[in-house]
Amino acid sequence: MNLEVVGFHRGWEGVMSNDSKALTPRSVGGILQLGGTILHTHRSPAFETKKGVKKGAKTLSKLAVEGLVVIGGDGSFRGACDLSKESDTLIIGVPATIDNDVYGTDETIGFDTAVNTAVTEIDKIRDTAMSHERTFIVEVMGRKRGFLALTAGLTSGAEIIIVPEIKAKTDIIIQTLRENWKKGKRSSIIVKAEGAGDARTLAKNIETSVGSEVRISVLGYAQRGGSPTARSRLLASLYGNKAVELLLKEQGNKVVGLQNGQIGTINMEKSCNTTKPFDMSLLLLANVLAT
Ligand code: F6P
Repeated sequence: MNLEVVGFHRGWEGVMSNDSKALTPRSVGGILQLGGTILHTHRSPAFETKKGVKKGAKTLSKLAVEGLVVIGGDGSFRGACDLSKESDTLIIGVPATIDNDVYGTDETIGFDTAVNTAVTEIDKIRDTAMSHERTFIVEVMGRKRGFLALTAGLTSGAEIIIVPEIKAKTDIIIQTLRENWKKGKRSSIIVKAEGAGDARTLAKNIETSVGSEVRISVLGYAQRGGSPTARSRLLASLYGNKAVELLLKEQGNKVVGLQNGQIGTINMEKSCNTTKPFDMSLLLLANVLAT
């Protein structure tokens, strides 16, 4: 199949300013194992305006782009939804964000990589927690959602997981830590999503009420980098393949994703406008495993 492929630099910025480069099998060779993106990425407030979207539509029409694959999270897809109203180009969304907060897919590209990075770090932090008999609050990314905190917390054996989806009650956290102490657990790891309140306030409350030494560790941008895991690479391959398949069938306005173990699609507008549900049963399981 003779498809001509170009990649826009810096996301929507490149679409607006018509800044692209040709992508060929040879030019993208050797990037599979790299973190980040060779096209660079950019948050683009200008594309949140009608003027910006119209500018983007103009570029697509000028270059006679027949299909646009948008790789990103909800911000990128919001832009894609707006653009689809101004342009005839077929648009397909490929979900890629460490936050895993895209509706219509069980998993986004990069999520597994970030979870593994967080778990590796938490395992190391546990060494200090146990040696010094301390409580640690480990803050992970996730923006306004707790998917990363939940999976990283569960798989690193966190004693407590705090997510924005469920209001954390300080008295219950303190009670759990006291019970842990009585049970002989002299160290605890609390994995807290960045969107779930202030770590310092919680640390102070715990120190005052429980008496144990508390340290805060913010994992930060390390979670967004590094070589992708095999699972992230597999999802990227499957989603990319599906996106091309859809474009060849002249279908647009869809987001590809993993749905109950199968590669499926969902309407882009629906994906943009629906909040991904949070799996409470996993949080309950994490609590059971932490007893
Ligand atoms: O959306 C991905 C994400 O890494 C969030 O988890 C985090 O809150 C945010 O991006 C950080 O954004 P910035 O790079 O603009 O600080």
